[in-house]
Formats: sequence, C-alpha cells, structure tokens
Amino acid sequence: MKVNIAGVELNNPVITASGTFGFGREYGEYIDLNKLGGICVKGLTFTPRKGNPPPRIAETPAGILNSVGLQNPGVKYFVDHEMPFLKKFDTRIIANISGNTVEEYCSMAEILSDSDVDLIEMNISCPNVKEGGVAFGTKASTVSHITKEVKKHCAKPLIVKLSPNVTDIKEIALAAEEGGADAVSLINTLLGMAIDIHSRKPILANNVGGLSGPAVKPVAVRMVWQVTSVVKVPVIGMGGIMTGEDAVEFMLAGASAVAVGTANFVDPQVCPKVVQGLESYLKQQHIHDVKDVIGKLELN
Ligand code: SIN
Repeated sequence: MKVNIAGVELNNPVITASGTFGFGREYGEYIDLNKLGGICVKGLTFTPRKGNPPPRIAETPAGILNSVGLQNPGVKYFVDHEMPFLKKFDTRIIANISGNTVEEYCSMAEILSDSDVDLIEMNISCPNVKEGGVAFGTKASTVSHITKEVKKHCAKPLIVKLSPNVTDIKEIALAAEEGGADAVSLINTLLGMAIDIHSRKPILANNVGGLSGPAVKPVAVRMVWQVTSVVKVPVIGMGGIMTGEDAVEFMLAGASAVAVGTANFVDPQVCPKVVQGLESYLKQQHIHDVKDVIGKLELN
C-alpha cells in the first residue's frame, strides 16, 4: 500500500484533506491515526485568524459550501503546540499554508522547514479570503512566480494546491511544475452560492463559498486526469471521495495519492474505511502493489 510523494514514503495513499481534519486531535478519539497515509492539517497563516463571520457552512445536494476564511491559530502556534502531538503517530504530516503576500508564504515555508513536518502544501486556491488565496492561483505567471519564490525558502518537498476555478487547469499545473513544485494537489473547492428564498439573502454571510463533497467528484477526476497527462511531478487527487472505489477512480486517473475531505464530516471513521476499500479492490483485482493502479485508466 506504500506510495511515494516527492521522495516521501507514505504507508498508504490516503491523506486527510486540509480543513476537514483540524490538527487530528478530535478524530484521534474515533480512529487510529497510525492507519492514515498522511494528515494534512488545517490551513495555516502567518498570524492567527478568526475566519469569516457565521453562517459559514451551508449544506447543498451531495455537498457543502464553506466560507470558513482560514480560521487557525497561526504557524508558530502550530509548530510549538500541535506538531509535538502529531509527531507521535506513524503517519506523514503535511502543513498547508496560505498568505496575504508572497513574503508571508516564504516566511511560513522557512518556519516549517525547521520543523518536523514532512511536506508543505502551498494553498493558492482558497476562495474565501479577500487577499492572497485564490488570487495567486488563477494566472499561470503568478503561479510560477510564487512557486519559484517559496521554493527558495523551502527545505521540505513543496506541494502546490490548485484551484478548479480556472479555464485551463493544465496550464496552471504546468506553471507550478515550471516554478519548481515537487507535487501538485487538486482540486480545492468550486466557487458557489446558495440563497435563502424567504429572506432573499445568500445563506453564507460571505455571500459565496467553496463547494466540496460528492457533487464535485466528476469535475475533480476530470481535472486530475488532465493534469497527470501533462506534468511529471506526482499528483494528489481529491474532491468528493467517500469510499475506496472513489479513491481508485482518482488513482486510475493518475493520482499517486488521494485526500479525503468532506466525507470526514459525515463519518469520522471514513479514512480507514477508504484504506480498507482500496485494499479490497487490490485483492479482487489480484494487484499486489497499489502503485500498479496509478494512471492505469484505459480510454475509450
Ligand atoms: C477556508 O478556510 O476558507 C477554506 C480553505 C480553502 O478553501 O482553501
């Protein structure tokens, strides 16, 4: 079940998606965190953030809209207070970072390079903040520039997390690779809106938010397939994974690992179940190494 992302070996391909698993403590009461391939923690910023005002979650058919706005205790708090807990487990730790400026991303990469995190995921795709976030992630030239700058300050393998809210995902992925990304992950949420017809107001206080969950899975699988057909770096696929079969779809499309997000809110034990589902698929198909599933899609 082992896979390799940018030189880092994962015990299995299943990672928790940033923003859906906190820093692992609460889920640790429901599952054995050692069973995860990796834990990607809630998005960190240079200074602590309270996030956007509520309501900031709205249920939609087969998904949720969120406009959390990067609530987190800040990168230094994470290193001092959350990393000692996370390092106790036999799983890989991925720190997800967001900044208002290129300089903030670089400073966070430096701080985390001196910590025990295994990989850094650079989030240039958050749709819920006025500065930074997706503003860096929708133009190829900006993606390439920020990746190059952050790489200069980053001693850990750098994953660039891509937004689906673009015209050509291949162009953006290639720009991240050209900038020196060691891996890319996709998709972050799709920008959406839900309206309360009685008040005639948007349900989210921020008016718009990011859509995730099974509703986005076909878009995510298509984008992962498009990206893996043009980049050489490993791809982490995510978007609506609920079961082992869903994870297999992403791996057949070319993902070397997968992340499970919204499903954690439905079933806090879903990640080990996705691992088991993947194992069952391998047994049924008489495949001995999960790596033999990666990119084995047969097109019509
Ligand atoms: C948020 O905190 O607003 C979600 C983060 C993201 O979508 O990248």
